[in-house]
Amino acid sequence: MSQPARYLKQNVAIEPLFNQWYAWWYLLSPATAPLYVANLHAKIMQSFVSAPDIHVAALKNPALMGGPYINYGTDRAAEVKALLERTLKEQADSIRFAAALVELDKLLTTSGNGSSLEPLYKKVPDILQGYVELTYDLNHRPRPRFLEALLYRSPHYKESSQSLSLRLIEQDARKYVFSTPRLGGDGSIHVTRPFRHEALDRFFAMREQPGPVEEIREALGVAPSDSERFDTFFTDAPPPPRTRYDGDGVRLRYFGHACVLIESKDVSLLTDPVMSYPFSADTPRYTHADLPEKIDYVLITHGHADHLMLETLLQLRPRIGTLVVPRSSGGNLADPSLKLMLSNLGFKRVVELGDLETIEVPGGSITGLPFLGEHGDLDIQAKIAHLVDLGGKRMLMAADSNAIEPRVYDHCRSMLGEIDVMFLGMESEGAPMSWMYGPLLMTPLQRKMDQTRRLNGSNAERAIEIVTRLNPKQVFIYAMGREPWLGHVMAMGYTETSPQLIEARKLLDYCKQKGLVNDMPYCKAEYFVR
Ligand SMILES: [Fe+2]
Ligand SMILES: [Fe+2]
Repeated sequence: MSQPARYLKQNVAIEPLFNQWYAWWYLLSPATAPLYVANLHAKIMQSFVSAPDIHVAALKNPALMGGPYINYGTDRAAEVKALLERTLKEQADSIRFAAALVELDKLLTTSGNGSSLEPLYKKVPDILQGYVELTYDLNHRPRPRFLEALLYRSPHYKESSQSLSLRLIEQDARKYVFSTPRLGGDGSIHVTRPFRHEALDRFFAMREQPGPVEEIREALGVAPSDSERFDTFFTDAPPPPRTRYDGDGVRLRYFGHACVLIESKDVSLLTDPVMSYPFSADTPRYTHADLPEKIDYVLITHGHADHLMLETLLQLRPRIGTLVVPRSSGGNLADPSLKLMLSNLGFKRVVELGDLETIEVPGGSITGLPFLGEHGDLDIQAKIAHLVDLGGKRMLMAADSNAIEPRVYDHCRSMLGEIDVMFLGMESEGAPMSWMYGPLLMTPLQRKMDQTRRLNGSNAERAIEIVTRLNPKQVFIYAMGREPWLGHVMAMGYTETSPQLIEARKLLDYCKQKGLVNDMPYCKAEYFVR
């Protein structure tokens, strides 16, 4: 007997996991993941196992929420211990890989003295041989260049570590993900399929096209013992139909954080997709159910987890026409290729965009503009702002650009002309560099230096520099991490006196004085550019 076709409920949430930790940028690249496994995950778990009460006590202070503390009670120490033991066993070669990176660094710093590097190849740790070229910069400082494309085809790219947690959610609050592994026990179902698996596309397509539940359960490898729970993810009620904007000019819909749907009659573009799930919530919002059936272009500004969010991207994968990502420098450990990463994750058409490069789109174009700062002065080139031109209306989506050198915008203005709308993030007091990049460092950085190298976006003074140079008619502040559904990736804890909000309001006041349209949208907003 054929199975009845049912719809996937709109509020089934997924969390992509890597060794049961929330998967993001540096866990997806085979060159960097081992450093996070060895230097972050194993260490946090070891610390929790030896003294869980210290973690529990620390997290009573909300200011420590983003710190290296596991957010479970002491009763789960045995489960964390089991995960730690399994990680150390199953990821033994990752841990060797991470140690080899340190060894390679030592080899280069001690022996790369300006003479030919050729004799050193034989001394490269075996696990890295064939995956690295040894080079000098123009000051004769040695540095490795990793052959990332080869690593994706090697045993070091661990699809077996990828899995997903699925569950129904009815509220925004979710545990902060970067310091706490997912252990289950929260009504979730664990799916051990790699992220590129086509069954995931079929699963998410069932939000619109009903299908047989049993068949998709088997395709996802969900155990029969989880059938009953899996069944609760489905409904007979069809979703409301999706519509596309067909009015004049450009409609902008703010989905929260840096996620904006830009639509004209001809084309739809979505920036930095991060969105909430539909459920009856107090704060109105757009959710993935409000997206058009097909999204022609998805634009990614940079790899930070609040901008490149695999959780949202995977759900949209079959509906994305072209995924536009910034071009990385290639081979530098801190700057993995987003194109290689997303192509290997099953995204069919991934296109790189560099500074001042343009992609033609129906009725307009997308041009890359420099995005400075916000990465602790590390040489990370995979970051870009987008100038979207639709029918002559020009919108700059600047993400977390920090105008540390405002003259960049003078140069851009003389080349690109006027803009109508600017969206700018102003998370002007970010974490110290080591908070995100610490596990990648070959040598620890002194605390006082680390404190000066913060992941800061523009403050009011710098934002005003951009506004005066580019002269937009409308200014919107976005990407502030204020939405209640971002708690799992951003431990912001804003209050009215938070410096980020004070700086943001200064910019809004400035825009008011100058007679510019301005706003700092929260949760949901709609604007038109005509
Ligand atoms: Fe960022
Ligand atoms: Fe951000």
